[in-house]
Amino acid sequence: MPMNTMPKSCHDAGPYSILVLNGPNLAHTGLRQPEIYGSRGLEDIPTLVNQLMGERAREIDLSFYACNSEGALIDRLEQARAMCVRGVAFNAGAYTHTSLALADCIAWIGIPVVEVHISNVFAREEPIRRQSFMGAHVIGMIAGFGLWSYALAVQALHAHICGAGKKLKI
Ligand code: DQA
Repeated sequence: MPMNTMPKSCHDAGPYSILVLNGPNLAHTGLRQPEIYGSRGLEDIPTLVNQLMGERAREIDLSFYACNSEGALIDRLEQARAMCVRGVAFNAGAYTHTSLALADCIAWIGIPVVEVHISNVFAREEPIRRQSFMGAHVIGMIAGFGLWSYALAVQALHAHICGAGKKLKI
């Protein structure tokens, strides 16, 4: 199926491939500043997706990648495009606020991306955390719900891919 062709329904399409992508310093979530990022690790995300989505989680084929390097993140997004991944839940960490290169990549690859943050970046002290280079190119942003932000992003991508986003006006 061509990458941008919408399936008739989720059921017809089989499992959707969704990538959960994490940038610098996020692999150690759970250990890193738990007062900000909580004490659960990224390995808990599949459980949270299952809890949030119940049976519908079976319609999703989740894959995960975390790395500290900007170039490797771009490589992984390009690979996702080549593999017809249907959506990306992307926490780019500090690159969110600094990387024009990542924003440029999201702008062209044609995959719906949801920007994810564990913390509420708007409520934090440093003004730069309120700036997002990728914000103009993502379908939406979820921040401030701890690790649940990832599960909420996967749910939003699923609704978007299924076309339910139109009915929900998201
Ligand atoms: C973060 C917020 C960023 O400002 C920060 O640089 C991170 C994590 C979050 O998930 O809350 O590394 O993306």
